[in-house]
Parts: sequence; C-alpha cells; structure tokens
Amino acid sequence: MMTPLSKSSASTLKDAWYCAGWSHELRYPRILGRKLLNRQLALFRDQQGRLHALDAACPHRGADLSLGHLVEGHIQCPLHGWRFDDTGKCVCIPSQLPEVKIPPGAMASTYRVVERQGIIWIWMGAVRDPMPAPPHQDVWEASPARHRHFLPPQLWRCSFFNAVENAIDNTHLPFLHAGLLGPNQQQLYPTQNLVVDEDLRGFRGEDSPESPWGFPRSRQIFDGVLERVVAAWMGMNEIRREYYRFDLGGSLSFYVEWDSGTWDVLAGHWTPSDSFHSWYFGMSIRTRATHWVGDIFQKWFGKKLSLQDKLGVERLLSNEPDNLPSTVSVVGDEPALTFRRIHNYHVNHQQGDGLAASSTNWV
Ligand code: FES
Ligand SMILES: [Fe+2]
Repeated sequence: MMTPLSKSSASTLKDAWYCAGWSHELRYPRILGRKLLNRQLALFRDQQGRLHALDAACPHRGADLSLGHLVEGHIQCPLHGWRFDDTGKCVCIPSQLPEVKIPPGAMASTYRVVERQGIIWIWMGAVRDPMPAPPHQDVWEASPARHRHFLPPQLWRCSFFNAVENAIDNTHLPFLHAGLLGPNQQQLYPTQNLVVDEDLRGFRGEDSPESPWGFPRSRQIFDGVLERVVAAWMGMNEIRREYYRFDLGGSLSFYVEWDSGTWDVLAGHWTPSDSFHSWYFGMSIRTRATHWVGDIFQKWFGKKLSLQDKLGVERLLSNEPDNLPSTVSVVGDEPALTFRRIHNYHVNHQQGDGLAASSTNWV
C-alpha cells in the first residue's frame, strides 16, 4: 500500500507552463478573456502577430479589459477608455489632457506567453533565467496539419487535481471507458517504469516489460474478427510500444507507436481556472490512416473519450477546492502519486531554487 500525501500539502503551482488556449483562437484584433489560475486574463495579438497576456482587471475601477477592444495596438478599457500597451502600462486617459501625468500605478500585470505547435503556453509565476521549456511533441512534424485535431476548450466543473489524476490513472479504463474501449479489457495493471526528469518538472512512464501481466492493449480493444479487420484498415493492428509523458503544470500525452511505424498521440492539457473549475484542452495527432475516415474517427474518439472523463470527474468525485484528495492508494496509483510529489515539490519551492535540486531529495 502506498503512503498517501497529506491533504493540505497542495496549492496552486504558479511556476509552470500551463496551456492558455489554441493559437487559432486568437486572430488579430480579437481579445480573448479567460480565467486561469484564479486570474481573469485578456489575451491578444499585436499587429505583428505577437501574443500578450494582461490581467484583465482594469487598474482604474476594475472593468474587464478583455471586453474592450484594440485601438492602435493598445487595449482600450470598455468603461472609461483608458488604453494600455502590451507591457500593461497605461498610455492614455481620455478624461484628462495629454500633458497631465498618468499615475505610475496605472499598470496592468502582464504574464509571459509563448506559442509552440499551435498551443499558447502561459507562465504565471516568478520568471526564471533560464526558463524551462514548455512541453513539445516530437511527432508533430511527421503529421500533416489536418491530422492534428484540437477539441474546443472545455471548462470542467472539477478541481484541477481530480482532472489530472484521472487522466494519469489507467486503471479506470476498463470501467469508466468500458463503453468506448470495450468490455473485455484486462483489469490487472502492469507495474510501471516511471522515470522522473532531473529538474522534477515531468516524468515518463510505461508498462514494465518484466510485469507478469504486461499486455498489448490492442488485443483487448479489437478482440472480434470484424474489429480486427477494421482496425487493420485503420492502421491500428499491432502496437509496437506505448508510453506516456507528464509535464507540469498539467500536460499529459499518451504515445502509441504501431507496427507500421506510424503514431497516435493523445494529449490533454489541464489548467486550473478557479477553485472549482479546470480548463481542458484536448488534442490528438496521428500519422496513420491518412484518409477521411481516419479524420472522422480521430475527432469522434477524442470527443467521446473527453466527455466520459468530464462526466466521470464531475459526477463521481468529490471536487474540493484547491486540495489534493486525501485517499488510500495502491500500486496502480503510482503515476498519480508521482504527479502529486513533483507538483508539491515545486509548490514548496516557488520563488526558491527548485531547479537546482537533485533528483534524490524530492520525496
Ligand atoms: S475602469 Fe477601466 S478605464 Fe475606468
Ligand atoms: Fe479517461
């Protein structure tokens, strides 16, 4: 039996890259309002296409800047028209003459945002030098754009921790997803090989080859003759290897390499919105079945899987705010416990020198 971590040991980790949205959601001159890590933000592009993120609470009287619009590259507040540049500095107050000094406190906080592979990443904690890199998909370049599917962002009514732990936990597949993945999935869970990154910002996991009940998952999902024929046509006959990767703040990717050398990647990025809600940004990549049926199946599968997970965490779990659930754990929960440990480690080292720590002092 694994040792549970204390219930009070978690709070929001700010020093991490979180997904803020998809690149295609932001086209100039749109301003996107989104609540992340308890802050309402205004995300926008300037005329050169660069991304910016500002605290949306106007420093004058608190109106929501994300409901304003861009004027000459500046965000204009919808209430009294103050304008802010991309550094958050107020550059214009229409109710006073231009020569009157703008109060130095007329500043909106800004956050670091980067754009990689169609994803907008935001860092809302203390800026470090050097900054860790946001998560990256190696399979991205191998796949034509139309085989990368982004689900519309979803706001789940659940705590961030429940959403992430449910995603990392493969032992729920034969139960919560029996209707989608089939009723005959093996319930015994193989021992996991987990390798934590040196900077403790992520880990990689896969079934241990020594596990007495290791199994190729494809045999369980496609167990009928017809299913196998369809699966072969879809390039999904035999799995060569599969593994997963988790990266702080809340990014998880499952990788499946098929015998033909093609790939599927199923990725979910979770970002706390407030104490009771989490954003889910789901995406998938495939390099097999490059026909239109493959496109339809990929979209259908991602949508169905995320709906089952959403309903599962919203309805089946107690979603206490800002806390890890205090629960009993078994060996099958090791990936979730590893997430808790690296998350808590970095919460305890926010503003500190967490990146300098060795991998031996984190438990
Ligand atoms: S509240 Fe924004 S300008 Fe007054
Ligand atoms: Fe699931």
